[in-house]
Amino acid sequence: MNLDVREMMLDETDIVIDYFHSSTPEHLETMGVDPTRMPGRSIWSSRFKELYAQPISERPNFVVIWRLDDKPIGFSSCDKIVFGSRANMHLHVVVPELRQRGIGVECVRRTVEIYFRTFALKQLFCEPNAYNVAPNRTLQKAGFKYVKTYKTVPGPLNYHQAVTRWVIER
Ligand SMILES: CC(C)(COP(=O)(O)OP(=O)(O)OC[C@H]1O[C@@H](n2cnc3c(N)ncnc32)[C@H](O)[C@@H]1OP(=O)(O)O)[C@@H](O)C(=O)NCCC(=O)NCCS
Repeated sequence: MNLDVREMMLDETDIVIDYFHSSTPEHLETMGVDPTRMPGRSIWSSRFKELYAQPISERPNFVVIWRLDDKPIGFSSCDKIVFGSRANMHLHVVVPELRQRGIGVECVRRTVEIYFRTFALKQLFCEPNAYNVAPNRTLQKAGFKYVKTYKTVPGPLNYHQAVTRWVIER
């Protein structure tokens, strides 16, 4: 298994847009995503161009690509970034057949290192939907500690929902 985990380049960001736009309503529901809050493809693409035009330390979002044997198989993004302090991460293996084989936990471990290093973090949070078993188990296995379960709107694509807050602190 040859895994490559690194910052996503601008010309790779279609993987993010394609993933959300090709997800079934059921899959979006599992992730707590409201399809009506998703930007259209071209608007989303323009937003990525604007994002990558900014210096990394000033970006509101940062995306990491997960590649297996030279093919993209997933990604993580982080937002709510406060440089030198905290951020929130997200995790997605986009090829369904590659889930539940140990790839997610390994990619999350490597991604966590990138976020801590890039943004000099002290705390890294993740808040998956409380009923979405896969990320909750994966985060615990990757070393995140349980904080609490509560209701919130965890991100701009999400509806109000119960989430589990996990954290890694350094
Ligand atoms: C969440 C995700 C990235 C995890 O990646 P993965 O490669 O499937 O996870 P792993 O194979 O590394 O599994 C890690 C742990 O989680 C468990 N797990 C993963 N998926 C599971 C599922 N659907 N049901 C129960 N346990 C699951 C594994 O059994 C493993 O625990 P164990 O070793 O103690 O048994 C991936 O499943 C995914 O992309 N899911 C869809 C998108 C999603 O829901 N993202 C979260 C949005 S916040």
